[in-house]
Amino acid sequence: MSVGIDEISFYTSNYFLDLRTLAEVQQIESEKYYQGIGQEKMSMAAPDEDVVTMAANAARPLIERVGTDSISTLMFATETGVDQSKAAGVYVHRLLGLTSNCRVVELKQACYSATAAIQMACALVARQPEKKVLVVASDIARYDLDTSGEATQGCGAVAMLITANPRLVEIDAEVGNYTEDVMDFWRPNYRSTAIVDGKYSTKIYLKSLKKAWESFSEVSALAFDDFSHFCYHLPFSRMAEKAHKHLSKLNKAGLSLEQIENQVEDTLHYNRIIGNSYTASMYIGLVSLLENGKKDLAGNKVGFFSYGSGCVAEFFSGTVVPGYEKCLHTLSHRNMLEARQEVSYDEYLNLYRHPDPRDGEHHDMPTSTQGRYRLAAISGHKREYVIC
Ligand code: CAA
Repeated sequence: MSVGIDEISFYTSNYFLDLRTLAEVQQIESEKYYQGIGQEKMSMAAPDEDVVTMAANAARPLIERVGTDSISTLMFATETGVDQSKAAGVYVHRLLGLTSNCRVVELKQACYSATAAIQMACALVARQPEKKVLVVASDIARYDLDTSGEATQGCGAVAMLITANPRLVEIDAEVGNYTEDVMDFWRPNYRSTAIVDGKYSTKIYLKSLKKAWESFSEVSALAFDDFSHFCYHLPFSRMAEKAHKHLSKLNKAGLSLEQIENQVEDTLHYNRIIGNSYTASMYIGLVSLLENGKKDLAGNKVGFFSYGSGCVAEFFSGTVVPGYEKCLHTLSHRNMLEARQEVSYDEYLNLYRHPDPRDGEHHDMPTSTQGRYRLAAISGHKREYVIC
């Protein structure tokens, strides 16, 4: 019996800022963003959106297809938690109408935790193959204005159903891990934006890739050449290109630059126009690959490098299942992305600065999202979610 991803769907906000607009305001060349970091647009969450509404929107198409009966667990991965105690997934559980016998838990380790959720979900399914686990990863990437991280903001959520004999990607049991206590990127509880040592974070990312790959190579029979494609954590698209060159070099792969680029290029289409979505980003990269791959991927091996600052990293592998293309949500994803609305710099600032009430009074949120679920109000320190 194989275990892995049976369904996958993602959501991002209706609003985006073109990084040309940001470059104009900053009086720098837009090519720094378009070429230098490989990003064109970044999604900005609406005032009535948060990780809960985005996660529910991402998961809805899966639930409409498979129903709720066999979902035994909902795992919610995020580093944009809305509560220190209550799991954000409990709100999603209600919004999606999951059964009261379904357990819910939230996981955190920067951008890595969705991968922890996937591995735990695979273990649960291996133990009870008739059950399905819903893994959602949802994040809003926020940095201070006028910092080098500003252009690498974004938001998005991805939902994946982990089952026995999956229809999309079988996940192999062998993994390579690397953990080190470092301060490259973090967000203390009292801050709404991340603190980052940008250059250092990219160095630690590459070091972790090497270490996780070495750890993977000790337990897996797979070699670099066995993979047709690689999905990397995507803080910005150029990072994946750099990482893949690094890994190719480590493995002394005799590939041309074009061949190396081809192994990651199709994973980047959505990220270039969404921006960083932290926990969701690598898996939105997988959707991009499956939906935009230039050739039939059936039977191909895909390598995954998941990185969470702080840091925990993991390299693992999967095999694309024949017939996968029939189980995707390609059209609705493309329609969602095409229907997005560009914002001006001032509108971007308004979205960025939208108040995050903490006083316990009643605050209605302006109706703005195009999604099915919205945060209607925060009242008496309680978040009120509605289905539109
Ligand atoms: N045309 C073409 N390219 C240009 C250019 C132009 N006009 N101007 C600059 N560039 C290139 C630069 O040469 C550089 O390329 P190389 O990396 O190949 O040298 C690239 O654009 C970026 O330029 P800078 O290095 O000057 O950019 P910066 O220092 O202002 O910012 C950054 C880069 C530090 C990564 C910043 O975006 C940042 O802090 N981001 C947030 C942190 C981050 O994403 N870290 C990634 C690893 S941590 C992680 O993965 C977890 C997570 O999700 C955050």
